[in-house]
Amino acid sequence: MKRILVTGAAGQIGSELIVALRQRYGGNNVIACGHRTMPDRKILDSGPFESFDVRDSSAVTDVVSKYEVDIIYHLAGILSATGEAKPQLAWDININGLSNVLETARQHGCAVFFPSSIASFGPSTPQVNTPQETIQRPQSIYGISKVSGELLCDYYYHRFGVDSRGLRFPGLISYETLPGGGTTDYAVEIFYAALRGKKYTSFLQKGTRLDMMYMPDAIRAAIAVMEADPGRLIIRNAFNITAMSFAPEDLCAEIQKFIPDFTMDYKVDPVRQAIADSWPNNMDDSAARMQWGWQPEYDLPAMTKDMIEKLSCKLGR
Ligand code: SER
Repeated sequence: MKRILVTGAAGQIGSELIVALRQRYGGNNVIACGHRTMPDRKILDSGPFESFDVRDSSAVTDVVSKYEVDIIYHLAGILSATGEAKPQLAWDININGLSNVLETARQHGCAVFFPSSIASFGPSTPQVNTPQETIQRPQSIYGISKVSGELLCDYYYHRFGVDSRGLRFPGLISYETLPGGGTTDYAVEIFYAALRGKKYTSFLQKGTRLDMMYMPDAIRAAIAVMEADPGRLIIRNAFNITAMSFAPEDLCAEIQKFIPDFTMDYKVDPVRQAIADSWPNNMDDSAARMQWGWQPEYDLPAMTKDMIEKLSCKLGR
């Protein structure tokens, strides 16, 4: 059985990916790794946990050696809005952390999963049906770290044969763990506000369309791309994937079908609005569909229904 290490264990993706991987590969074969924020009990009680900073290269290597790791899901990173507040920190964690992971993978023969993002595109990228191969000149430090990460993963594959694979995730919507520090966070916050009986004030303006995905689809995609037949992968790294595309008012209208008196207004955050304006409206994910069978299960109505059901239980509503 493969041994898998996941960095960013307390994060939005990590907290759910670890649970799914442990169900599939066995609890003791999936090593959860965090740093400052401890993951919740569900993670701590279901398999090994290690605490280290991904910027510490010897700590990364020690844990990979200790558990004889085969695959590293490297999820630790700083998101777009926090990145603009702390650009040097974002570069340090996002780039030096990835570099340490890839170098350890080279030395120990591990495969690497790297989460890229819609943020790897910029204002000169075509925003509608954004192609797999296109102009990538992002202006946020987070986006710059994501394009650099895509290239570094490709470099380690071509130069050293490291089996690096990755996805360009859209905004991810989930009820387990809050995202924290991203531009697409409104699409999660809005559900908490709606269920707590409050109106929501969107920090993105009306008409800001972005690609989005419900977390169960994102988890399936991350596992599927790493299990895909390498012979079918032409790109390997940074596949566009999407499941739905909407603007704040579309999500509000969908929520109102379940909570009719829910209301939303707008107070635009110029930093996050500028970032969102530079990202695609909807990506073309046909390469992922063709090369490893990507197919989302949740569209906007299905995601909204499930989010409201699950979050109502969680919040005791
Ligand atoms: N959800 C991320 C963010 O908003 C994009 O990858 O920063």
